[in-house]
Amino acid sequence: MFAKRIDNLPPYLFARIDEMKAKKRAEGVDVIDLGVGDPDLPTPPHIVQALIDAAKDPDNHHYPSYLGMQSFREAVAGWYQRRFSVDLDPSSEIISLMGSKDGVAHIPEALVNPGDYVLVPSPGYPVYSTGALFSEGKVHEMPLLRENGFLPVLDDIPSDVARKSKLMWINYPNNPTSAIAPPKFFDEVVEFAREHEIVVVSDNAYSEVSFDGYKAPSFLEADGASEIGIEMHSLSKTYNMTGWRIGMAVGNKEIIRGLGVVKTNIDSGTFNPVSMQQLQPSPARRTVWQKHVASTRNAVTCWFQACRNSDLRSRHQKLPSTSGLR
Ligand SMILES: Cc1ncc(COP(=O)(O)O)c(C=O)c1O
Repeated sequence: MFAKRIDNLPPYLFARIDEMKAKKRAEGVDVIDLGVGDPDLPTPPHIVQALIDAAKDPDNHHYPSYLGMQSFREAVAGWYQRRFSVDLDPSSEIISLMGSKDGVAHIPEALVNPGDYVLVPSPGYPVYSTGALFSEGKVHEMPLLRENGFLPVLDDIPSDVARKSKLMWINYPNNPTSAIAPPKFFDEVVEFAREHEIVVVSDNAYSEVSFDGYKAPSFLEADGASEIGIEMHSLSKTYNMTGWRIGMAVGNKEIIRGLGVVKTNIDSGTFNPVSMQQLQPSPARRTVWQKHVASTRNAVTCWFQACRNSDLRSRHQKLPSTSGLR
């Protein structure tokens, strides 16, 4: 009954984990869930209040903008400038997403023809691979191994694969290894992408969840990155907003335009009240946010540490394509 692309998909790892959890809970087991990156803290109150206020405004009861509210995109541009010193044009270099999963799943449809390769870190977020398979692309896994600092070794990508690759995923701070990338790695990625005419998508969903004074950079800070790539962000982890579904893709305007073409034909944009206010700075919000980051840090330290302590090399060998964390 189903199309081959459905039959060929591996089971979605987290749906499978949900089933396993439900079974154990039904047996009376008190399950500690380190599998899914879903903060167990509530969304900060100023964001909830902004939603309540905006939901009452009839202007917000119509179809929203396909690309995201202009004020949201301006707030994103302001944040990128303050946080990463990266300049973005809100009208052409930013698009809002219904969670970054929306962008991760759909960007291959803009770039990948049947038979093209997509370079995917392994272990990694499973949607990098399934998005490629939906576009009838082929997945080439780039192993993230302890001895390489959990960075892919670009020289290990076979040249015939590199030649036929359209898209490369990178994700630092990395899920699930918690590795961070030295700036020189981004320079190498830009050079590799230029040489092989590959689009790079940096999934920076965890940029705000870091430790010990480390501040994660944006891939777009690297020289030439915005000529060959884009970056995706999520408000899910930063603001405990996994249920709200809001994120953004930013960077090269042609690539953003391609993603926009796909999305305008699939969805009708993010509900305006969800994209209002969250990124606007204010001292009160900053305090709430700092407290939130501190408690999120405590919560995630636990599973980062668990990942660090596990032998990811043998996990990689056993679970080649679905061994990510959501
Ligand atoms: C690495 C990574 N990227 C993207 C996502 C998607 O997050 P969201 O769709 O909630 O923005 C996740 C979710 O866990 C993730 O771990």
